[in-house]
Amino acid sequence: MSLTDRDKAVLWHPYTQALTAPAPIPIVRAEGVWLYTEDDRRILDGISSWWVNIHGHSHPKLNAALAKQAGELEHVVFAGCTHLPAVELAERLLEILPAGMARVFYSDNGSTAVEVALKLAVQYWINRGEPQRKTIVTLHNAYHGDTVGAMSASEDSVFTRAFSNLLFPVERVRDLQEMEQCLQTHSVAAVMIEPILQGAGGMIVWPAEFVAGVRRLCDRYDTLMIADEVLTGFGRTGKMFACEHAASAPDIICLSKGLTAGYLPLGVTATTTSVYDAFLSDDRSKTFFHGHSYTANPLACAVAIASLDLFREEATLAKVSRLEQQLRAGFEPLRSVGDVRVIGGVAAVELTSNKPGYLDQIGPRLAATFLARGLLLRPLGNVVYFMPPYCISESETAWALDQIAVVLG
Ligand SMILES: Cc1ncc(COP(=O)(O)O)c(C=O)c1O
Repeated sequence: MSLTDRDKAVLWHPYTQALTAPAPIPIVRAEGVWLYTEDDRRILDGISSWWVNIHGHSHPKLNAALAKQAGELEHVVFAGCTHLPAVELAERLLEILPAGMARVFYSDNGSTAVEVALKLAVQYWINRGEPQRKTIVTLHNAYHGDTVGAMSASEDSVFTRAFSNLLFPVERVRDLQEMEQCLQTHSVAAVMIEPILQGAGGMIVWPAEFVAGVRRLCDRYDTLMIADEVLTGFGRTGKMFACEHAASAPDIICLSKGLTAGYLPLGVTATTTSVYDAFLSDDRSKTFFHGHSYTANPLACAVAIASLDLFREEATLAKVSRLEQQLRAGFEPLRSVGDVRVIGGVAAVELTSNKPGYLDQIGPRLAATFLARGLLLRPLGNVVYFMPPYCISESETAWALDQIAVVLG
């Protein structure tokens, strides 16, 4: 039996309608930007394996760091114990994170990094004696993950609607003016944004001035700013962190995806000293009661440290900058078929559609066409985007851009 047949008998895939979806692609190995299938096809990973991969698949240095760590300490409970990979990664992150970040709390994926941020924000105000401050302000078209809190903070959409009775209410705004009105009329615990790039909501690019404006409003109304950099962190928008475009620093930042270069699940929620200090007390009820079995997994931390080394050794941000130039030139002609948006290592075109949105059937149809040409893309409905690992070569990018131009042109 083929891998696909065996899969069909026992598995349930994410975001997949099994009745109508094509069979999953059986991948047996991967290297650089290429995925290799059971039947000897080579496919370019044009979505960085759901936006996580940055230095390429099966990178020798990352492989070595993982193997070394596995030989020393694979995992240990992180309540009451500590270990070098967790400490060193926190030290390294605090050196490069936006100004003011002073504490690192680990979890194990992007959604949990967001859940932690939301819970920290709400308890922060309780611990400070202002329990009425509990409203969370988010943006329309936001996507913050699939756990219940992260869904609450995301756009009310086909992803979340079935679960509406589980979700807590949030205030969704479209611009700074609406945000300010909300801050004037509600007791707000935190404003949460995906800085510069809203990903799953349709690859929407925001001006840096908007991010700076959110910071200003949070200062003016004395509330917390949460930056969800699960997608944008680690170079995806051209800067190490998207907040840098606006020279703004949040009070809480969420990281995952590129954190481990696409190797292992790990989440980080980093905060300022001021947030951390609100949890210090003789009163044990002020403790942050949150943790996961795999919190601060040493294997994941070791790979994350090695990935940060690679940023230096391979001048990774310069690669993103070169990639951005090539994407800008390559996507320019697509303005004739839709709205083109390029930032850092991400290029998108929102195709003109009479049924825009995630369920636009054009998405799966285009995905199948690209796949037949050896390019893995997963359009978000009528938004076709290309987000390869940063290690992609100029000729590989040119090849992928050709496929996109031929299919969409
Ligand atoms: C901005 C943002 N936040 C949170 C998440 C959730 O991350 P995960 O899929 O690791 O739970 C995602 C995932 O795409 C994301 O793009």
